[in-house]
Amino acid sequence: MADHASLAGKRVLLVIAGGIAAYKSLELIRRLRERGVTVRAVLTEAGARFVTPLSVQALTEDTVYRDLWSLTDESEMGHIRLSREADLLVVAPATANLLARMAAGMADDLAATVLLATDKPVLVAPAMNVRMWQHAATQANMALLESRGVLRVGPNEGVMACNEYGPGRMAEPMEIVDAIAGFFAQASHRPLAGRRAIVTSGPTHEPIDPVRYIANRSSGKQGHAIAAALATLGAEVTLVSGPTRLPDPAGCRVTHIETAREMLAACEAALPADIAVCAAAVADWRVDGASDRKLKKDGGGPPALALTENPDILATLSRPGDRRPALVVGFAAETGDVLAYATAKRARKGCDWIVANDVSPGTGTFGGSDNTVHLIRADGVESWPTMAKDAVASRLAQAVAEHFTETLKAK
Ligand code: CTP
Repeated sequence: MADHASLAGKRVLLVIAGGIAAYKSLELIRRLRERGVTVRAVLTEAGARFVTPLSVQALTEDTVYRDLWSLTDESEMGHIRLSREADLLVVAPATANLLARMAAGMADDLAATVLLATDKPVLVAPAMNVRMWQHAATQANMALLESRGVLRVGPNEGVMACNEYGPGRMAEPMEIVDAIAGFFAQASHRPLAGRRAIVTSGPTHEPIDPVRYIANRSSGKQGHAIAAALATLGAEVTLVSGPTRLPDPAGCRVTHIETAREMLAACEAALPADIAVCAAAVADWRVDGASDRKLKKDGGGPPALALTENPDILATLSRPGDRRPALVVGFAAETGDVLAYATAKRARKGCDWIVANDVSPGTGTFGGSDNTVHLIRADGVESWPTMAKDAVASRLAQAVAEHFTETLKAK
């Protein structure tokens, strides 16, 4: 069981949506209050069909907030204040409908409005029928919410109220209490507070003419996840991103660029920094003298494209000097002899660490969600098991934090 000491004195706004699991949220209120948490509750109209406002009110010893349009509620506590006067918003149960409304940014009742207006972290405990949970729409909504920084506990697998079996049961109240305690413990653990980081991510697009460009298959998933993980540990992060389909990660300043030269300029503008992580798949070459008019088929056959080398951002940031970040990390995507090539690349680029991975066809690394990496440092190689790109990012951010703690100790 998690350490619950971090819970005392915290303020939780609990949103109770309409699902059979709503009865467990009453137990959740009790368990949180026993640990010194102040709980305020918002009950949706459907939620009030499963638990009575009176029970919620008695357990929270506070008004139960229900109506966006209630003059009394607005005069006592407007929805903006309600959403800000909390350290964490917890949605339990989080129904498929409420998750969809959150993902779409709707504000059609008090619960949705509070969740849209908040500047505080949100934890959801999904609860629904297994098919509703597994439906592509719910999975897409959940993935979108998580990419925006929404935290999740559950759902658990088991027999459901509708007699079907599978994932969909809301996490048990004590599991939700543990997740809340874990959140507060982690939120106070900010070993990179006061450190500035630059992260490059995604591909670059190098124009051939105003409508065509040279690009590559990088999705930006790994770089974006690293930016988010460094921010979670307290770093002030500038993410310099090439064109991707990803939303901007929460808690980072994001500069959007297209070409390698723009990426270098944005990185240099973000200096000074303590940490640089170059995860972008920068195009090595650009078209020399890209046309400012669309190239036409004029009967003379295909145009000859002359290429010229792009600046190497990683090598530039690694160059010794006053503005060199104390820790520069590069990536090496290889398709064979991974360790040998990546070790040579570390020396050639002048960076401190290289994260090396095998991107051969069939590994699913490019565009996929998992990654198998080796961390190459001056003193050796650490090979990590295959894990989700988010987990690789957290582990790398943790290694960065440990590096700075050890450097400080050594001083
Ligand atoms: N990189 C960069 N700027 C470039 C090219 C690469 O910052 N113009 C960075 C990448 O972000 C990554 C590392 O350098 O951190 C990859 O090195 P690179 O030599 O480009 O690797 P490959 O493309 O695999 O090149 P090669 O194997 O041909 O040497």
